[in-house]
Amino acid sequence: MTRPRPAPDRPLSRRALLRWGAGATLLAACGGGRRAVASADARLPTPAVVDDDDHDDLPAIAAAPACSAPTADNIEGPFFKAGAPHRAVLVADGDPGERLIVGGRVLSTDCAGLGDVELEIWQADARGDYDLDGYRYRGALRTAADGAWRVTTVVPGRYLNGSRYRPAHLHVKLRAAGHRPLTTQLYFAGDPYNDGDPFIVPSLIMPHRVERGVRRAGFDFVLEPA
Ligand SMILES: [Fe+2]
Repeated sequence: MTRPRPAPDRPLSRRALLRWGAGATLLAACGGGRRAVASADARLPTPAVVDDDDHDDLPAIAAAPACSAPTADNIEGPFFKAGAPHRAVLVADGDPGERLIVGGRVLSTDCAGLGDVELEIWQADARGDYDLDGYRYRGALRTAADGAWRVTTVVPGRYLNGSRYRPAHLHVKLRAAGHRPLTTQLYFAGDPYNDGDPFIVPSLIMPHRVERGVRRAGFDFVLEPA
């Protein structure tokens, strides 16, 4: 079933998206191979996003793990590709999929924010496909002085791993001076494929909510001193 959605007639800034909403829905998962077929909703054109508000507040939701415990690692998977461009907006105008803003801070185990951390993120597009030829839905950024990070993208589509779907997830690598590098994944609370996934780690599941039509999720990474 396709839910009604507003149809903005001009590009919207991220601030405008938050203010008025894009009206998307979470993807349904079905399909074969590493390509998952998205729901009819995901195929609808979506509003353009203009990166004009990089200094807005971070998403209100934060996982807020105890910063004495380093973030769990998680498998890299087969779709990592070195050399991602420096950017924090992965979604392009007109891309299908539910808009997602995800962010938080990168902390050390003493709870201090870590600036200038290289954070690399890669994910499937809304249909569950990774771009192995180019760099769609791949980006690298550096954290702000207080450790803040934020990425604007779409909710990743699910894809088959063998005979079952992996839950929606984001892949992340972090590299910080004086700290052990981290390769991990972030998951979404409530994904029906979380249960039974062979790779998921409960502490990597993000809270999230839809606010004015844009899904917002938060996660604070904690890196272990080397
Ligand atoms: Fe993956």
